[in-house]
Amino acid sequence: MGYPHPSHPRETPLLSEHFGELEARSYDGWLARGGYQALRKALTMNPDDIIAEVKTSGLRGRGGAGFPTGLKWSFMPKDTAKPHYLCCNADESEPGTFKDREIMRWTPHALIEGCAIAQLAIRAEVCYVYIRGEFTEPYRVMERAVAEAYAKGVLGADALGSGRRIEIVLHRGAGAYICGEETALMNSIEGRRGNPRIKPPFPAVAGLFGMPTTINNVETLAAVPAIINRGGAWYAGLSLSNPKSTGTKLISVCGHVQHPGTYEITLGFPMKDLIYDLCGGMRPGRTLKAVIPGGSSVPIMTPGEIEDCATDYEGIVARGSMLGSGGMIVMDDSTDLVYQIMRLARFYAHESCAQCTNCREGTAWTTRILQRILAGEGKASDLDLLLDLSEQMTGRTICVLSDSCAAPVVSGIQKFRGEFEAYLSRSPAAAMAASA
Ligand SMILES: Cc1cc2nc3c(=O)[nH]c(=O)nc-3n(C[C@H](O)[C@H](O)[C@H](O)COP(=O)(O)O)c2cc1C
Ligand code: SF4
Repeated sequence: MGYPHPSHPRETPLLSEHFGELEARSYDGWLARGGYQALRKALTMNPDDIIAEVKTSGLRGRGGAGFPTGLKWSFMPKDTAKPHYLCCNADESEPGTFKDREIMRWTPHALIEGCAIAQLAIRAEVCYVYIRGEFTEPYRVMERAVAEAYAKGVLGADALGSGRRIEIVLHRGAGAYICGEETALMNSIEGRRGNPRIKPPFPAVAGLFGMPTTINNVETLAAVPAIINRGGAWYAGLSLSNPKSTGTKLISVCGHVQHPGTYEITLGFPMKDLIYDLCGGMRPGRTLKAVIPGGSSVPIMTPGEIEDCATDYEGIVARGSMLGSGGMIVMDDSTDLVYQIMRLARFYAHESCAQCTNCREGTAWTTRILQRILAGEGKASDLDLLLDLSEQMTGRTICVLSDSCAAPVVSGIQKFRGEFEAYLSRSPAAAMAASA
């Protein structure tokens, strides 16, 4: 079992405050840390007031897209003639992302409390927590915590003696990245193949089992108790750069930094300070080459682009990439970027559900071209072909897995073209052209 690093003085530990404390995993330990006060408060509020508080907080989805959480909740119908469902997305398969598992491992009751409050807000009768199949330890911790919450009367037909029913069901995935996409996730829970569905209809209209459904990420839901306890306005005040990016964010940093790990920052924190101060900078004798800031599905950034970049939704977009899931992959000058981009393309080709031609063929073809270039058999026209393929893979498919494959390819060629050309100049075709 891995323990987290001691909190850095420049972090803002809100979700991570109790990471590493074994006692925080138990019901009593969570109660001693102020747990379930927010749920008690929410049980006295009407659903619209809970949603209003979350809207005031400015909380945005931490699963990747950054959609405003309160607004998403408000899309759910207000009548309860049909059952309503909440799905907590604990699939976390995005390469470079390892923050939701820390919430489940260390503070499972924070997630249970967040799920319970969200259920009250959207009038859901059940919350399904969809946990990635490989998450053995987080699953065991969550299983224990949910059983304890039922035994203590937090969950069940009479939640905390309120007369209200709150139910949580844990559902294990089987190791498919695509099942993190919200509609594939719902298919998977229903026992179908995890293929994304065409939208509309959107989940708030026809989601799980055809009923109104909201899907939220683990980190999004775990942030809700603090918002109910301390108020949406307080949470909205946690912002260092753009007022549209509020609260704290867990950033999982991996790769060539001296101290990889999960860091909690206030949104707007300077990216350069995150890499060089909190994470200790590059390994001795090495310099920074590239950063993929939001999980592998977003454009690659250059060292110049991380200068003065605020780590928040708008700040990273202004520098040509996206905050995404907050999984930051840092690469130094020892990195072969062409090889790393090929590995990403190969991952997406493997994980494509194959429903859409542009994704099924595009991810596989992109991988083959990159492998050909790496083998020294690339053609001068390959870079244009890759860019053309990427264009055909973007914005034309049922879900954005296809776009995700194209993002590192396009940004890699645009920003690090010399690395591709170095491979091409070593190919037999280039040698023949030179000797002609
Ligand atoms: C291919 C693919 C994989 C995804 N994987 C995840 C995931 O593992 N966890 C997650 O929370 N969101 C994932 N998402 C985003 C979800 O579809 C959805 O937007 C998110 O769970 C909504 O929660 P939020 O509003 O709280 O961010 C993925 C999306 C795509 C297209
Ligand atoms: S884009 Fe790819 S993963 Fe998404 S639905 Fe189409 S084929 Fe499946």
